[in-house]
Amino acid sequence: MRLLFIGDVVGRAGRSIINAELPKLRAAWGLDFVIVNGENAAGGFGITEAVCDEFLAAGADCVTLGNHAFDQRDALVFIARQPRLIRPVNYPRGTPGRGANLIEAASGARVLVVNVLGRVFMDALDDPFAAIERELKACPLGIGCDAAVVDFHAEASSEKQAFGYFVDGRVSLVVGTHTHVPTADCRILAQRTAYMTDAGMTGDYDSVIGMDKEEPVRRFTTKLPTSRFEPASGPATLCGVAVELDAQGLATQVAPVRIGGRLAEARPAFW
Ligand SMILES: [Fe+2]
Ligand SMILES: [Fe+2]
Repeated sequence: MRLLFIGDVVGRAGRSIINAELPKLRAAWGLDFVIVNGENAAGGFGITEAVCDEFLAAGADCVTLGNHAFDQRDALVFIARQPRLIRPVNYPRGTPGRGANLIEAASGARVLVVNVLGRVFMDALDDPFAAIERELKACPLGIGCDAAVVDFHAEASSEKQAFGYFVDGRVSLVVGTHTHVPTADCRILAQRTAYMTDAGMTGDYDSVIGMDKEEPVRRFTTKLPTSRFEPASGPATLCGVAVELDAQGLATQVAPVRIGGRLAEARPAFW
């Protein structure tokens, strides 16, 4: 099974490269399943139904979120009728939408997708480790699903690495999101879970984590908010991770993906 995960799509620049590249990648690489993190897709903050539909039409099977999940109020309503949109699983009981779902790939394979929020340098939420334990107990790899992907949306690399080892051998891929910068550590762990601390954002890197740089620099230097954060609008880099899985749903190959914009290009050599 061929899996592609794409990191936080930021604003119009990020959406444009998804629309331009994802249909081509899906065909050229023979992808079976694609996940896009869309927490910053609408103007940098949250997601709307139209944007979510746009990702699904471009070739995504599933869209994950993060701490910006409900920045667009619209999402509180439409998430209930969109089973392919997954918000963090460790939000308080009663939060609209699903934190995990089993989604059928075109091949018929059942893919468990879970979105989890970290707690280090983030809002206080339910224990992410206990949350994933519950989800994997309810739907074990090889029994309840053919592949399992966890989007661990967190700030601290220590928490992300610890989380990776905690689920090693029990999921196909653990990929970090949220920092908007890709890490160079993608690898297959000892029990064959593919791991990458952060997929990086899909947006304009001539920016401060996807936003026009003037206002962030001003806020760091003066501490005075003078205008709104606006997504940077230059050419975007599509960032993510490509994974090949065996019949057990465990990783045999993993590689970073970086296409377009200002970062050095990276494509999987195995497809
Ligand atoms: Fe983000
Ligand atoms: Fe985030």
